[in-house]
Amino acid sequence: MCPGSFDPITFGHLDIIERASQHFDQVIVAVMENRTKSSLFTVQERLEMISENTKKFPNVVVDSWHGLLVDFCKSKGIDSIVKGLRAVTDFDYELQMAQVNLQAANVETMFMATAPAHSFLSSSLVKELANYSGDVSTMVPLNVNEALRARLAGK
Ligand code: PNS
Repeated sequence: MCPGSFDPITFGHLDIIERASQHFDQVIVAVMENRTKSSLFTVQERLEMISENTKKFPNVVVDSWHGLLVDFCKSKGIDSIVKGLRAVTDFDYELQMAQVNLQAANVETMFMATAPAHSFLSSSLVKELANYSGDVSTMVPLNVNEALRARLAGK
């Protein structure tokens, strides 16, 4: 499973999903509803944007979950989580989550090094740039770029 908020999905996420799909029989991209973060896009909108960009990968499916990651893993029989690490600043938090998920449900987390071209990229940065009319066309797929423009124009 590749879990995340994906608010919105970026080329960095898509690179990790594509590479994970080359190493596992099936990859479930799980859009997690985060109760503590307000999101720009609804879960349904995020699911649609991801599906559009992952349909070319036959072994990738997209799903969503409201609650603990480990409960989703248990319900689907998932035993591995794949996460991208951009820099050492990601490591502390990701390590904590990996250890909690291992302890709680024996779910392994495998870390992939983010491709250098995407190491600075985050959904928050994309939203901030787009909010100030910055060009995010090299950071997100076309449908996400269009959705960002439409959503932020309406603000
Ligand atoms: O894209 P993000 O926001 O970095 O993804 C973080 C996410 C959604 C994977 C993480 O917050 C998560 O797993 N949330 C689900 C709730 C949960 O299981 N929390 C305990 C993690 S130790």
